[in-house]
Amino acid sequence: MVPAPGRGPARPIPTVIDCDPGHDDAIALLLAVASPFIDLRAVTTTFGNCSVADATRNALRILTLAGATEIPVGRGAAGSLAGTTELGNYVHGKRGLDGPDLAEPGFEVSGLPAVELIERVLADADEPVTLIATGPITNVATLLQRHVADRSRIREIIFMGGSVDRGNHTPTAEFNTYADPEALAVVLGSGLPVRMVGLNLTHQALATPEVVARMRAMDHHVGHVAAEWMGFFGSSYRAIWEFAAPPVHDPCTVAALIRPELIEWRRCFVAVETKGEWTRGTTVVDLHDRYHRPPNADVALTLDVGGYWDLVLGAIDTLGKGR
Ligand code: BDR
Ligand code: CA
Repeated sequence: MVPAPGRGPARPIPTVIDCDPGHDDAIALLLAVASPFIDLRAVTTTFGNCSVADATRNALRILTLAGATEIPVGRGAAGSLAGTTELGNYVHGKRGLDGPDLAEPGFEVSGLPAVELIERVLADADEPVTLIATGPITNVATLLQRHVADRSRIREIIFMGGSVDRGNHTPTAEFNTYADPEALAVVLGSGLPVRMVGLNLTHQALATPEVVARMRAMDHHVGHVAAEWMGFFGSSYRAIWEFAAPPVHDPCTVAALIRPELIEWRRCFVAVETKGEWTRGTTVVDLHDRYHRPPNADVALTLDVGGYWDLVLGAIDTLGKGR
């Protein structure tokens, strides 16, 4: 259930981000690290925008850039539950975060693999933990499959994926949900509170020239790196989808946690196609209750674009000035 509106939670919410960085995943991590409303307990990685090895290296480098080397990073799934490894490196570059040179990681990957690291966080936290997934949702599904009985340690799952209408990786399927639809089916069937942040929402979060100019105008390295990332990401979106500016998808999930009132939500039944000949990985969002099924997700519909960018750019600036 979407939390009540407000300027942010009363105390930091224990959170794990499971990601495949990725230019927009990178901005999501910066937003979470900078936010006083999030207690980022761990970052876990998955295949997706690149191999899991590159995603892990990228996560370590992003947290190093953010000065957050105390956050453990656990390496996760190399492929989907069905054993496939669909990659989005045609969007994010060969190693998943191409563009500006980044310093090598200032710390090592955790000795615990992703799912075990999340289990440790769940066990150690004194309140239920929020899981944010910004890549194929394989690690979260694996965690749920291991804990059929006791899921009370999870407060909610917020994922970037799917759409109420169009796709991107295929005409109808969004990349993350295409990459592991069986995993998303596990999450949607879990009975846990789930929030879906799909393309219909994230395509409103465009890094326009004005947004990128605000990044460049920041007189520090983090702002300039973010602007360069948008340059690389934007050229992919221009070449493949003819977008004038790139949609910065993944930070919308973090914004959903910090400032849910920036987004209009609809509670409804969501399914994911696992069998379609042409539609595998497509989300089916029953906005008008045509199936008469119990709702299983809160679905993001419209974004307060100005509020979103103020939040994201404020976070980048905070990190650049040294938090
Ligand atoms: C999603 O796929 C990746 O390209 C992005 O990181 C985002 O998570 C958008 O379809
Ligand atoms: Ca992603």
